Amino acid sequence: MKEFRTNIANDFVDQEVTLKGWVANFRSSGKISFLQLRDGYGIIQAIVAQSEVNIDTWDKVSTLTMESSVIVKGKISKHPKKEEYELQVSNLEIIQIAEEYPIGKKEHGPEFLLDNRHLWLRSSRQVAIQKVRNTIINAIYEYLNNCGFIKIDSPILTPNACEGTTELFEMDYFGERKAYLSQSGQLYLEAAIAAHSRVFDFGPVFRAEKSKTRRHLTEFWMMDAEMAWADHEDNLKAQEELISHVVQKVLELNMIELQILERDIESLQKIKVPFIRMTHAEAVAKLNKLGSDIKANEDLGGDDETLLTSDLGVPVFVTHWPAEIKAFYMKRSDDGKLALCDDMIAPEGYGEIIGGSQREDDYETLLQRINEHKLPVKEFQWYLDIRKYGSVPHSGFGIGLERLVGWMCGTKHVRETIPFPRMINRLEP
Ligand code: 4AD
Ligand code: MG
Repeated sequence: MKEFRTNIANDFVDQEVTLKGWVANFRSSGKISFLQLRDGYGIIQAIVAQSEVNIDTWDKVSTLTMESSVIVKGKISKHPKKEEYELQVSNLEIIQIAEEYPIGKKEHGPEFLLDNRHLWLRSSRQVAIQKVRNTIINAIYEYLNNCGFIKIDSPILTPNACEGTTELFEMDYFGERKAYLSQSGQLYLEAAIAAHSRVFDFGPVFRAEKSKTRRHLTEFWMMDAEMAWADHEDNLKAQEELISHVVQKVLELNMIELQILERDIESLQKIKVPFIRMTHAEAVAKLNKLGSDIKANEDLGGDDETLLTSDLGVPVFVTHWPAEIKAFYMKRSDDGKLALCDDMIAPEGYGEIIGGSQREDDYETLLQRINEHKLPVKEFQWYLDIRKYGSVPHSGFGIGLERLVGWMCGTKHVRETIPFPRMINRLEP
């Protein structure tokens, strides 16, 4: 027998059901009480009529508070005109009467809500965001599985840096040596492509980012994908197809949530491949024209990313960056000046959602890069080794999950897109 849930109430019309949930709201008008009940799948209005229930149940209703937990039995009826369902209560059991709930209908500041994140997660907007996040995670798995990728779990404790050494969380490893929290599983995936050809990981990564921007967390979730026999162009194609698949899935499965979030759905419907491609030099020229003072060898700031896409409806790949401002592992153009890499910038001001590149596959060149970047060769010997035993052209990319969720949901700050955000000034709850 299928169990009752509010999101499938249409399958239970005129049937007796049991709902286990929480009181999201309530009001009373004399001999009738209206309860808004949340069961984790949606909200339903439950009607308690004094004439239909025994005295015991009627008395209990008057003791209910916001967020009290209850088990309610009753019959489902459908609104005569609307797609709405109601529960005519016959019995109510109280599991716990909640204390006065700190989150009310009045406006709360972000710090208060973040301090109460363990409770804030229940609010309808927050519920909607986590549902979209779940869709995105599943859509990423689905796409990659269909394209022959297998999941390889990369380690979190590592002896070396993947991205910039200035953003490493360092820890003492048994008093003997230093260990670092992973910034990206990429280097380990590069080892695994020789075993599986196409691989990905999906897990938390850590950056000791001192930036207090709306796009930065110190712990966030990254999906790294890595492909053997793929060059820079193949890499861009994989990224745009994957993102476009994710957008389609969110539109297919999360219309209710997008409406709760008041997301402009039309702008998501416009996301179709191919995305726009421009080189870093072209991006700088465009930005200078639009008033930015960005220089030829500089990274794009948050404002530049917003400006760059302000007149475009689809994501933009900014490719071929000056090699000196990009990571040591990136393969370069023939003249050695540009990195064969890309940042995918989402439209509507959501900024960089993907970083990717073709990787340097030649042993001597890579060794030289590691030395130029003053990285400890010893700790990277295993990574260099991969280039000794059947090295192949290969490429990959990493998606920042929270930025992608933020874009889909239209949230101002990434802190709302992860259940328990970690930022420079926040480790609690
Ligand atoms: O561009 P990044 O640094 O690329 C890498 O780490 C590569 N090793 C990935 C790869 O090629 N496999 O990070 C990838 C993405 C960024 O585009 C951004 O979306 C997100 O991770 N990101 C952050 N998200 C939230 N908070 C931060 N502090 C982030 N730093 C990067
Ligand atoms: Mg990047």
